[in-house]
Amino acid sequence: MAAAGIPFDPLRPLQNQKALVTGANSGIGEACARALGAAGADVVVNFVTRPEEAERVIGVIQQQGSQAIAAQADVSREDQVQAMFAEMLKAFGTIDILINNAGLQQDAAFEEMTLKQWETVISVNLTGQFLCAREAVREFLRRGVVPAVSRAAGKIICMSSVHEVIPWSGHVNYAASKGGVMQLMKSMAQELAPKKIRVNSIAPGAIKTPINRDAWNTPEALKSLLRLIPDQRAGEPEDIARTATWLASDQSDYITGATIFVDGGMTLYPGFATGG
Ligand code: BGC
Repeated sequence: MAAAGIPFDPLRPLQNQKALVTGANSGIGEACARALGAAGADVVVNFVTRPEEAERVIGVIQQQGSQAIAAQADVSREDQVQAMFAEMLKAFGTIDILINNAGLQQDAAFEEMTLKQWETVISVNLTGQFLCAREAVREFLRRGVVPAVSRAAGKIICMSSVHEVIPWSGHVNYAASKGGVMQLMKSMAQELAPKKIRVNSIAPGAIKTPINRDAWNTPEALKSLLRLIPDQRAGEPEDIARTATWLASDQSDYITGATIFVDGGMTLYPGFATGG
């Protein structure tokens, strides 16, 4: 929805908007970057390693008729995040949408987990979301609402996980980071709503990406995974990307502080389908 009198193209609901997607050269981040581009946004494709993959994503977005550039930055490093935002503002002038997606797993049995494994996961998955959100919010506040572009001064979408609520043995660093993302998102949403900044999360379930390949790439693994998913299929990155596009658009203008679970029912306690 654009302001009265300004044409709104339902096929390109993010026309004239500038988006940054972190961790956008593979998996869920890549799908979000492509979907936002297809919806009309110009996209910064953030990556840490494998620049050739970022270039590939940029090529796809450009073919869809939007602009795209790559920006290398480790989201857990304040200096690198600030340099990436400076690059984005120079290239695109502003930011309207941040998809806080970059994240990783470093799994270990609890008693064997090293401080390094704990700190790496918390700093990328949680501190990284804080650092990127803070830079985005600074620009949203500087620029304010531009009615011809969006009803909001800015939109932040935090990539959380079903593990913001489901405890996860062998992954305490990851589950703790996503529990942290939940309160980071909600507290930001509460603080920033009066400034017309919307902050929401998507909590993916088991989506087929490199992060969890071992959980779905053999028939035995998939069978065991599907016991946790009432919908009986593993998700695709596009399931998340469609939700992200909608949450970034004015179609969801009255939604802030929400976590949308896109998980085929994984959070519905599937063990109770036959027990209890
Ligand atoms: C994790 C995946 C896992 C899924 C469901 C995600 O957040 O990154 O490895 O398959 O949650 O457990």
